[in-house]
Amino acid sequence: MEKIHELYEGKAKKLYSTPDPRLVIVSYKDDATAFNGLKKGTIVGKGVINNKMSNLLMQRLEKMGVPTHFVEELNERETLVKKVSIVPLEVIVRNVSAGSFAKRYGVEEGIVFTKPTIEFSYKNDVLEDPLLNEEHALALKLAREEEIALIKKYALQVNEILKTFWDECGVTLVDFKLEFGRLYDGTIVLADEISPDTSRLWDNKTGEKLDKDRFRRDLGGVEEAQVLVGTQLVGVVGTNTVVGLDNHGIADHVGELQSILQTLHQMVTGSGQTGLGVVLLHGGLVLDLVHLMELGTGGDVELGTQPCVTHQPVLVVGLQPVDLAVLEGEEGHSPE
Ligand code: TMP
Repeated sequence: MEKIHELYEGKAKKLYSTPDPRLVIVSYKDDATAFNGLKKGTIVGKGVINNKMSNLLMQRLEKMGVPTHFVEELNERETLVKKVSIVPLEVIVRNVSAGSFAKRYGVEEGIVFTKPTIEFSYKNDVLEDPLLNEEHALALKLAREEEIALIKKYALQVNEILKTFWDECGVTLVDFKLEFGRLYDGTIVLADEISPDTSRLWDNKTGEKLDKDRFRRDLGGVEEAQVLVGTQLVGVVGTNTVVGLDNHGIADHVGELQSILQTLHQMVTGSGQTGLGVVLLHGGLVLDLVHLMELGTGGDVELGTQPCVTHQPVLVVGLQPVDLAVLEGEEGHSPE
């Protein structure tokens, strides 16, 4: 399915028409904004992670009974989705106090709620997305009563599914924002995206923020946090190998690491792709990352003093300072 016209450019995505009037293509950008566009930046690789993550989550939700706009992932940044008219409500579900909730009610972040909360805001940039209740939404004819009831039901269902999912990844789902749309026949489906841009995700051991708050609050490490979250996600759905090492002593785990690199190598050569293999280190955690950039092949890689058999250049990315520097292949490709 090919793109025809650009229909719309938003803060983080573009939308294109296709030959089928009921389908559109969404393309994820690396642009990031916060505070209704007042703060602008670029998070390298964000579009790729958000595309992949949103698609994986939407497919999982769909399987578990929540209808979504997802049709097919076309490439790293682009996905075919059903065309909807967006219900102009931002639906925010919270499990833990944070962000505007903590600020508005004068409480600290991190209070775990006994029941999730749902709130709506009116999706309107000029008015800066004001909060509103169901009666306001009805008065403004933003949605019908049955639609609001269905949206709330789906939002709570999404929360239960995602909370469990993230918990298995060692991540607390603090809060998130959903948007729903109407298909041509009026059916309500989950639309937009579910990603670290639209969710708060905290490492459940360290409390570290793994989401767009790193960008909103200038916490640094934005790209690494995005990559980490994306990688954990890919691991759990089993499309790739994730091996956790339980301490920082890489030398004790060279065998495991070698096997990761071999898998990576097979993946690359098996799929006929040439590219860059990426190993992500987070403390003592070694994660095998999927994204293979087209940089050509490199030579063997040295890991510390231990040679690892891979014919790809390997980039080591550390979220925390790690004792390993960036490793390059024999031919000296430096990863971009
Ligand atoms: P908040 O605490 O700032 O109201 O944000 C609640 C959640 O909604 C948080 O996970 C981030 C997400 N969100 C968006 O996706 N888009 C937005 O414009 C805002 C303000 C929040």
